[in-house]
Amino acid sequence: MSVKKITVVGAGHVGATCAQLLAQKELAREVILVDIADGIPQGKGLDQWESAPIEGFDTRVSGSNDYESSAGADIFIVTAGIARKPGMSRDDLLKTNAAVIRSVTGEIKRLAPESIIIMVTNPLDVMAQVALETSGFPRERVIGMAGVLDTARYRSFIALELDVSIEDIQALVLGGHGDTMVPLASYTSVSGIPLTQLLEQDRIDALVERTRKGGGEIVGYLKTGSAYYAPAAAAVQMAEAIVKDKRRILPCAAWLQGEFGMSGIYLGVPCLLGENGLEQVIEVQLDDNERDALETSARHVRSTVEALEALQ
Ligand code: APR
Repeated sequence: MSVKKITVVGAGHVGATCAQLLAQKELAREVILVDIADGIPQGKGLDQWESAPIEGFDTRVSGSNDYESSAGADIFIVTAGIARKPGMSRDDLLKTNAAVIRSVTGEIKRLAPESIIIMVTNPLDVMAQVALETSGFPRERVIGMAGVLDTARYRSFIALELDVSIEDIQALVLGGHGDTMVPLASYTSVSGIPLTQLLEQDRIDALVERTRKGGGEIVGYLKTGSAYYAPAAAAVQMAEAIVKDKRRILPCAAWLQGEFGMSGIYLGVPCLLGENGLEQVIEVQLDDNERDALETSARHVRSTVEALEALQ
């Protein structure tokens, strides 16, 4: 895939950080920020472009309040919506963000019917379903960002605990984003050494718990917004795997069609990402506890979908 254009919808904290990272990594010829806020995408886009001579990238960054310049874009990273405030659960955001995602996806379908959508807006698993249904795109082209972020948080905490390089830490976190995520202890290793040989179970449990609440921990500090550096880095890593056809296996929210015994639901699972988007869902063996946790996670996502349906 020769990627010419990536549009980031939503020029807020996550979206603007995505745009800057995409440009610094030169993942497209052109990066466009789109937002409804008057002047914000234009101002941030121009500011980022003015960093190009210093950072040395040739990706043209610009901003707009409409979608016309995004016609034919290859990838859309969707971050538009309302961010979670302290005391607000992800599900509280449901109705507002669903309406935003419907309108955004309608524009994407109209102007770039062959594009790939990476959904970031929360509640992510449900917003990905809204985008899938609104766009009518195949599941290969509507993927949600969750597992890369949860896994990154988990890896970052393991690195701190063991005081070793993050480069050596491999981990896999499945399930829904946040409270019901499913960290797979048996797939977590440090330079190939199972984590269970390096840390006592109660320490591992504590790191898992901190990861589960990782989003809330940042909200607690920021008070007026939610995390954006790590979420943006995670979305851009997914885009990079697609743009460069790297065929990376990353945990992403995918629309399941029988994998892990489930269908008709977005859930975080290992995904092979390449030029066509989701190339394959990779099924892995789970022990009974992990399977139970994944099913609990799926129930939570389904109940949020039902809550949204009830609100319509
Ligand atoms: N079209 C385009 N942009 C929109 C629309 C819309 N219909 N509605 C809202 N926006 C824009 C807002 O104007 C704002 O600039 O989305 C942006 C959201 O930015 P922030 O409020 O800074 O939120 P952010 O922290 O970036 O989080 C965005 O990502 O991680 C998730 O939970 C987070 O759902 C939230 C999303």
